[in-house]
Amino acid sequence: MAFFRGYSSCEGVGTLRALTVRPGEQGSLRVEEVPDPVPREGELLVDGLALGICGTDREIAAAEYGWAPPGEDRLILGHESLGRVAQAPEGSAFAPGDLVVGVVRRPDPVPCPACARGEFDMCRNGRYTERGIKAIQGYGSERWTVEPAYAVKLDPGLERVGVLMEPATVLAKAWDHIERIGSRAWFQPERVLVTGAGPIGLLAALMGRQRGLEVHVLDRVSGGIKPDLVRELGGVYHKGSVPEAVGDTKPDIIIEATGVGPIVFDAVENTASAGIVCLTGVSAPGRRLQVDAGAINREIVLENDVVFGSVNANLRHYELAAQALAAADRSWLEHLITRRIPLARAHEAFEPDPGDVKVVLDLAAG
Ligand code: BGC
Repeated sequence: MAFFRGYSSCEGVGTLRALTVRPGEQGSLRVEEVPDPVPREGELLVDGLALGICGTDREIAAAEYGWAPPGEDRLILGHESLGRVAQAPEGSAFAPGDLVVGVVRRPDPVPCPACARGEFDMCRNGRYTERGIKAIQGYGSERWTVEPAYAVKLDPGLERVGVLMEPATVLAKAWDHIERIGSRAWFQPERVLVTGAGPIGLLAALMGRQRGLEVHVLDRVSGGIKPDLVRELGGVYHKGSVPEAVGDTKPDIIIEATGVGPIVFDAVENTASAGIVCLTGVSAPGRRLQVDAGAINREIVLENDVVFGSVNANLRHYELAAQALAAADRSWLEHLITRRIPLARAHEAFEPDPGDVKVVLDLAAG
């Protein structure tokens, strides 16, 4: 049995199942028995309910990303968590039975000025760690532990959809920063275009509607549930290119969620004046594209446009995301989860299906 630091290795202590991988080694993904996690002083012990699987997890499984904790060779995968508190220390703000989500990132140890101020999503020295991604074990096990300061309590009614919290935090941050950038001058956006109708794009669209904006979503598929999900939000679904979707009425904001090079550049060129483009898609390096750099630069300058990247989220964004999910239509949120797979069959979640929006592992299914 592999030994996981922070997990008990004592004889006689129970085991549970976890989804693990050896970062950097293809084909190393497996569900295996690991020792029961032992909460450190002050920590919560949580029964895992669900784990969302995203592109980052697939990249880690494909040996393209990810780091095991120092001194260990396997990483427990999983950063899109949902669980129920099994044990909480006396006097903590949590009690057994609470529905909770664990925060992904931890500040760097220096800490840098951003991490020192709780803005670890903006870490300046890159020495942050991330559960299930970078140097700390993830939430992909039947039980996990978490520090109360990095646990967020959810409305009990969100049990079926609370696993969407982490991707929602990424968009809560993106919108927060869009609004902060917008406030540099008069800002009254009317229209947003979202490129990509995966979970990130659809949650971006949801938050656009919650702000009362006219929402357009562009994706490459015409079938499946994505067009209906957009229409149910009151948005307009487009298939095709960014210029086709935009037509004569350019959006004030574009949230790019595909990471596909030509779409990224189309987005940059197709906002209204003083437009804001927020890039959220992580793309694979190595693909070259011919662009008219002069024209793009000229457009950005002459129109006061802003193009910025956004990743991760801090505690303030977890609160904003919890509010956004609580205010959303539950059945719409449930429809985003297109497959729920028992942990034992976790491999299936890593084989994408064209009908997928969000694939979730059921950690309590046995
Ligand atoms: C996660 C972020 C994380 C990023 C980079 C994304 O999938 O949602 O929380 O910061 O990967 O590791």
